[in-house]
Amino acid sequence: MADKAVHVRICMGSSCFARGNSDTLACIRSHFQVAQDQGLIRLEGSLCENNCHHGPNIVINGRPYGSITAAAAVELIENELKNQNRG
Ligand code: FES
Repeated sequence: MADKAVHVRICMGSSCFARGNSDTLACIRSHFQVAQDQGLIRLEGSLCENNCHHGPNIVINGRPYGSITAAAAVELIENELKNQNRG
C-alpha cells in the first residue's frame, strides 16, 4: 500500500522558532490532531537548516516554503491531504 501520509518537517532552530514556527507547530498540532492520529500526517522537527534568512521555514512533501505563517502552513497541508488521498 502506498504511503499516503503528508510529510511535514518544521524548522525548530532558534531563528525560525522565534519568528513564528513555535505558533505554526502548535497550530498544526491542534488543527490536524485527528489526521496525525490516523497516520495521515507525519510531523517532524529539524535543527537549523542554515537558511534562516528565508525563515521561518517548513518543508511539506519535500517542497520547501519560506516566510511561512501558521495559516499558510495549515492551508498547504490541507491541500496536500486532499491531493494525496484522492482516489
Ligand atoms: S533556524 Fe530555521 S533555518 Fe536556521
